[in-house]
Amino acid sequence: MNRPFMPKHIPATRRPGAPATFHVKSFGCQMNVYDGERMAEMLGAQGMTPTGEGVDADLVVLNTCHIREKAAEKVYSDIGRLRRDDGTRPMIAVAGCVAQAEGGEISRRAPSVDIVVGPQSYHNLPELIGKTLRGESAVDTDMPLASKFGALPGRPKQARPTAFLTIQEGCDKFCTYCVVPYTRGAEISRPQSAIMDEAKALLDGGVREITLLGQNVNAWTGEDAAGRAQGFDGLIRALADLPGLARIRYTTSHPNDMTDGLIAAHAQVDKLMPFLHLPVQSGSNAILKAMNRNHTVESYLAILDKVRAARPDIALSGDFIVGFPGETDADFEATMALVDQVRYSMAYSFKYSPRPGTPAADMGRQVPMEVMDERLQRLQAALNAHQVEFNTAAVGRRVPILLERMGRFPGQRIGKTPWLQSVHVIAPDAALGDMIDVDILSAGPNSLAGELAERKAA
Ligand code: 5AD
Ligand code: SF4
Repeated sequence: MNRPFMPKHIPATRRPGAPATFHVKSFGCQMNVYDGERMAEMLGAQGMTPTGEGVDADLVVLNTCHIREKAAEKVYSDIGRLRRDDGTRPMIAVAGCVAQAEGGEISRRAPSVDIVVGPQSYHNLPELIGKTLRGESAVDTDMPLASKFGALPGRPKQARPTAFLTIQEGCDKFCTYCVVPYTRGAEISRPQSAIMDEAKALLDGGVREITLLGQNVNAWTGEDAAGRAQGFDGLIRALADLPGLARIRYTTSHPNDMTDGLIAAHAQVDKLMPFLHLPVQSGSNAILKAMNRNHTVESYLAILDKVRAARPDIALSGDFIVGFPGETDADFEATMALVDQVRYSMAYSFKYSPRPGTPAADMGRQVPMEVMDERLQRLQAALNAHQVEFNTAAVGRRVPILLERMGRFPGQRIGKTPWLQSVHVIAPDAALGDMIDVDILSAGPNSLAGELAERKAA
């Protein structure tokens, strides 16, 4: 049953009580997915019940992304759609990076928005709901020194055997195109003890694979259990000692934080999966300089050489921006040459999108949209071809698959290879969370199909 939320001018006596049901919708990166899950867990712990999509919920949280203009604008069309047939609407909260970047401006532009809450203050959501019910303004984009993590409830039982765990947030690197240093704040690392506790809770809740998240995850620093300073590789080694944890992944890394210790961990830690997402953005040194990336094509390739020497089967992934201001045909050809040389197993590529307040937005020589379109098409064609090539190379091999979800067909399960490829397999007796050996029979651009080889002890 819908409980329509009354706008603020309705007298207090006729306002409804606290929302009983909610829906959190996350856009953007994996950290937003993680934040969305933590918000949902918190609202659940408050006694609220999750519902499916959209308008049926008493409270809808739009957990937004500000990285490119298209993502940032999407929130406004989504808000417009949250009107019910009977003219009422749910209570609407805008969370995430658009909330951080635009703050109270959001409710001025979209008056039906009740709550605006940034990525560092969403633990205050219950309090903001209370303020809304009292007819008070509910905007919170603070970046408090005390971390939100301490105020969130512990991790409950998880529906899936794979989980995200944020270990680091924010960015001090200030690439000239990027909003993250402004929306997510300065680089901070969560303490190892808090991370270990959360990992143990996830394992107790049925998780077998943890993906460690951070905007610069490999910039993590902290102390080990004995109080000695250590880097990200030390944290990985500590996590690998946890019984029950089968696989560790991490994303996203910056080339300049790719330490020898982390590279060595790829050779030495069995639970650390052979997959590295290492964005390069461009194959032109002039563009990398204008982007303030602080690395060159040569230094990036030298890192990949070391990583491949440590873990020859590693799958590489990356991010690319085409049409950064001043990008010439020759600069773009350099990106194509780099892609051809590296042969990524998968990659993300985007047209440059000027973001308000970033230095690149004010640079001259912005690249026309048609040129960006054409470059993106060529780049994506090359990246897709390499992805197919990478997937095809798995055909005929026997690989360990961690089963993550049920497939569409009877007995079908879907899991991942160590190299992050999705595999469809008929395995009616296998449970989610099982690790099974699968013989790969065929490959497409986005997934593999295989048959059960033998059941391994889970
Ligand atoms: N325009 C286009 N792409 C961007 N990215 C970050 N900022 C922008 C922007 N202004 C891309 C980068 C980054 C990924 C998360 O999004 O490739 O690595
Ligand atoms: Fe989008 Fe960046 Fe915010 Fe993630 S951190 S939601 S990618 S703006």
